[in-house]
Amino acid sequence: MGIVVRTMKASVIEMFLVFLVTGIHSSKEITRIKRPKFTVPQINCDVKAGKIADPEFMVKCPAGCQDPKYHVYGTAVYASYSSVCGAAVHSGVLDHSGGKILVRKVAGQSGYKGSYSNGVQSLSLPRWTASFVISEGKPKKGVTYPSALTYSSSRSPAANAGETTAQPVTPTQVQTATPAETAPTPLPKPPEPTASATNSPRPQPLGHRSREPGFIPKEESSTQTVEPLPQGEPNCKVDLSFVIDGSSRIGKRRFQIQKQFLAAVAHALDLSPAGPLMGVVQYGDNPATQFNLKTHMNSRDVKAAIEKIAPRGGLSNVGRALSFVTKHFFSKANGNRHGAPNVAVVMVDGWPTDKVEEASRLARESGINVFFITVEGAVGNEKQYVIEPNFANKAVCRTNGFYSLKVQSWFSLHKSVQPLVKRVCDVDRLACSRTCFNSADIGFVIDGSSSVGTSNFYTVLQFVANLSKAFEISDTDTRIGAVQYTYEQRLEFAFDQYSSKPDILNAIKRVGYWSGGTSTGAAINFALEQLFTKSKPNKRKLMILITDGRSYDDVRIPAMAAHQKGIITYAIGVAWAAQDELDVIATHPARDHAFFVDEFDNLYKSVPRILQNICAEFNSQPRN
Ligand SMILES: *[C@@H]1O[C@H](CO)[C@@H](O)[C@H](O)[C@H]1NC(C)=O
Repeated sequence: MGIVVRTMKASVIEMFLVFLVTGIHSSKEITRIKRPKFTVPQINCDVKAGKIADPEFMVKCPAGCQDPKYHVYGTAVYASYSSVCGAAVHSGVLDHSGGKILVRKVAGQSGYKGSYSNGVQSLSLPRWTASFVISEGKPKKGVTYPSALTYSSSRSPAANAGETTAQPVTPTQVQTATPAETAPTPLPKPPEPTASATNSPRPQPLGHRSREPGFIPKEESSTQTVEPLPQGEPNCKVDLSFVIDGSSRIGKRRFQIQKQFLAAVAHALDLSPAGPLMGVVQYGDNPATQFNLKTHMNSRDVKAAIEKIAPRGGLSNVGRALSFVTKHFFSKANGNRHGAPNVAVVMVDGWPTDKVEEASRLARESGINVFFITVEGAVGNEKQYVIEPNFANKAVCRTNGFYSLKVQSWFSLHKSVQPLVKRVCDVDRLACSRTCFNSADIGFVIDGSSSVGTSNFYTVLQFVANLSKAFEISDTDTRIGAVQYTYEQRLEFAFDQYSSKPDILNAIKRVGYWSGGTSTGAAINFALEQLFTKSKPNKRKLMILITDGRSYDDVRIPAMAAHQKGIITYAIGVAWAAQDELDVIATHPARDHAFFVDEFDNLYKSVPRILQNICAEFNSQPRN
């Protein structure tokens, strides 16, 4: 009975409320003419802020967005590469059951700090081009929120960043902007699986035409005048430098084929200020820019410019050309765009006459994604002339095969147009310049307490050496430092002390066993002050702590300080080490950052997994 009454009461109140709300609503409608009813759009946990073009919006998040698979970068201010709803939970605006939030885009910044809060571990990020902040889902007075979100069609972080960053509008952009581009798209577009090449209306025929001088078919030139200007391929916003072979050896005919290839790529890319842009550098003895990124803003003009290129002649100094590209080509003055990845496609007939490995490494380190197309490489006894065997593989970054194309014959080069365009436009994979092995400052914190013992201590040093060996060590690559601790702490060597692998390995060998107590907390603080304050801002900071027992002091506050500084901390425990303590020291989630082995002789077993986790973590980080 009571229940029935209460239900009835409730429904009466409900009706009254409905009446009241509709009453208010309709009176609003009278005062504000034809104001559409605002409904808060809903998004999934995986939607990143960079995907949404609106500068300020309200959204409804589902439950469960605290899952670590929805990555969040930063604290309070989040990089736009973060899950919107994940960030909302991290910031405390939302609990695990979801709800409405208010999102406002703000400028990109450097040094997003990771932190653990409300069950979400956010990650650090050195730099990103756009950010956002979250506040409670209460609409502000006088602000109109979109009831349908505008999704940027791009699936790439770099292009996203580009879209959310204010850019000067050039006259060409105004000209080429179509209503479809300027009007908001009400629905999310499914990600396009392929690059522009496959959608391109008319792939340019090559091959059999290759012997004829002039490579633009007549019918094409005539239709092109009525064709609307290209709108660009927003999925492929890259700044591309074609580095072409103009050496004497290549010959006129092959040079011509090379130009046709370039033209076909330019065509397939559909160049535009909103999409890919392209310039050409030609090399012989010395390199020279034929035209840069901003000389020509569409495929037609670029093709016309390519047609005019004459071979330079001379040697095939590819390394020199790459250094030139690194130093000069990708400057802002040459049209390099913020937020668009830099790509250099190097064409090589046969083999280079100089060394390319070092020049390529420097190019990659300055953020250029280097692709090599080797045509008619050395065969048989020609191989003796190649000064750097396997140069193409050495020149590109680790993820091999993707960045180098080997082409048997100039006459089959046209088959590489589509594969190349696809790869160059696969912006998510253009992360060539930084790898997990060449971009960290790694501080080892080594327990030298009495319980370890002399012989085990040398096993620990071997472990440190084995981990270090995996990294590319130099002043601009990974750097390594070490601290040994007992009750006390001492700096064995700092990040800037050694800059080659042999020097580091020697220094590790020379670390003398100290013997004493175990103050792990104080050791972490010491490492923060003595090692990590001298870490470079663009480096990933890793701390690898090895201990064989429970600490005499509390590790919680020092560990938290390390995590807050964005230092990814691995805790390796041996023998009497306490798992709970390792879990506290280690970066969250502990299962990926804390390791325990029962005896020193088994320490070697954890080396591959630690390296694997370091790289997995690196690869889950977005890059500009
Ligand atoms: C280090 O590497 C050497 C050579 O591969 C191996 O014999 C040794 O067991 C490894 N030791 C540790 C502690 O990783």
